[in-house]
Amino acid sequence: MPDNAVFVIFGVTGDLAKRKLLPALYWLMDSSSLPKNFRILCTSRRDTSVDDVIKSIVHVLELQSISINYHSLEKLKEIVQIVHMDIGKASDYAILKSSLEQKDSVGSKDTCYLYYLAVPPEMFSAIVGGLESNGLASDNSHNPRLLIEKPFGYNYDSALELIGQIEKVFPEESIYRVDHYLAKETTQNIITFRFCNPIFSNIWNNRSVDSILITAAETIGVEGRANFYEKTGALRDFIQNHVIQLLALVTMEKPATTSSKDIHDAKLKLLQEIDPIRLEDVDEQTLRGQYEGYTEEISNPGSGTETYAALKLNINNDRWKNVPVLLRTGKSMAQKLTEITLVFKSDEPGNTHRNMLTIRIQPDEGIILNLLAKKPSLTDETQTVLMDFYYNQSFKNHRQPDAYERVLVDAIRGDKTLFTTDQEVLASWKIIDDILTSWKDNKDSLQLYRQGSWGPEGEDQWAQNFGTDWLIAAKQEEQIDG
Ligand code: BG6
Repeated sequence: MPDNAVFVIFGVTGDLAKRKLLPALYWLMDSSSLPKNFRILCTSRRDTSVDDVIKSIVHVLELQSISINYHSLEKLKEIVQIVHMDIGKASDYAILKSSLEQKDSVGSKDTCYLYYLAVPPEMFSAIVGGLESNGLASDNSHNPRLLIEKPFGYNYDSALELIGQIEKVFPEESIYRVDHYLAKETTQNIITFRFCNPIFSNIWNNRSVDSILITAAETIGVEGRANFYEKTGALRDFIQNHVIQLLALVTMEKPATTSSKDIHDAKLKLLQEIDPIRLEDVDEQTLRGQYEGYTEEISNPGSGTETYAALKLNINNDRWKNVPVLLRTGKSMAQKLTEITLVFKSDEPGNTHRNMLTIRIQPDEGIILNLLAKKPSLTDETQTVLMDFYYNQSFKNHRQPDAYERVLVDAIRGDKTLFTTDQEVLASWKIIDDILTSWKDNKDSLQLYRQGSWGPEGEDQWAQNFGTDWLIAAKQEEQIDG
């Protein structure tokens, strides 16, 4: 952790800053996890004041019924400053520059500068250009770092172009591409679970695993983000990044070491071994849906944007060949649930019981293994039971930091392990690029589903096409668990 750092937020009045970044900064202040000398500069064209920033933090914490530590809040208030500027105007970056160079306890010749772009991607190039033309990007003594949020492009070609544009100004090692699912506590545990518990290494392959299912379901709809969502859809919003990253962690080979580079190398290798879905296979290997009422909600009766997407992938390597991998995500679904399930093969034909291991990313974070057990009775009746580990039971007195706390701390201390690299981003686009082409301007395969359901009714039948009944089994398991 450097002693001196300045954190610049572009887009402080936006949803991401209000809901995630500012509360995360409060928690980091509260747990004394910020650098000794730290300042937060919030750029704003409007009349935003420091009080507004603090009020928005209080609002979010109150909504979560959190009892606020006013001492920490006051300390945070002391280090927040507003920089009034138009972030679309290159000349205004001189104002930012003078705030950054302000002579105080934070400003020293090696103060680290972090720029967080909590703005729509259309603004990226103006900001990066403004920083560059004012010497704020190349100033090596201040180790400038750029934090950006997805979407990183809208398909393979645009991602390549965006990466090229940004990397002309910031080198890859200074770019922190945020995928907050990687920073969730339970996601970080995947590596520990897989590689520090040797009993699993012998069964983590196609000799034992029948299929893999990753579900990322949300109960919320698009929540006033119609503009963003219409351009994005479920495939770009969740599968291209969060879900494919989870898949990489759960299926990659053991990294040579736990260094950031080795973990990224292992993930990239895996991503490049996934067969991209080809245009002619899109109909068979994908399913897309839209929740009823979506078009009215966003006032676009003709919208063909998917709010649900599922795809079946093949990983073309020795470990996973012939193991169907199913990914699915959706909004307005029955439950908020992100989990990874490995379904194990049965030992003999006709045995319908399948062991399943579920890594529950959220909520009720934990790891659950189902087993068949004899029911206590005078008969031989059996029943599925669960062997489980839940964070809230095993780590009772530990507050689970929000993913954004980890994102900020890691960026400040320069640890890129939990961020995505340019090559990973491109490899994930490559997997789904043909799906995007096929779905564009073609609504034929879009199926409507009831809000509060588990997605299109055709899902079970679609999954059975791959010759497995694991999806249904996994769903039953969810019910048992519930
Ligand atoms: C974001 C998506 O990346 O993740 C949103 O753009 C989604 O659409 C959000 O709601 C979900 O994050 P979490 O942490 O609440 O599961």
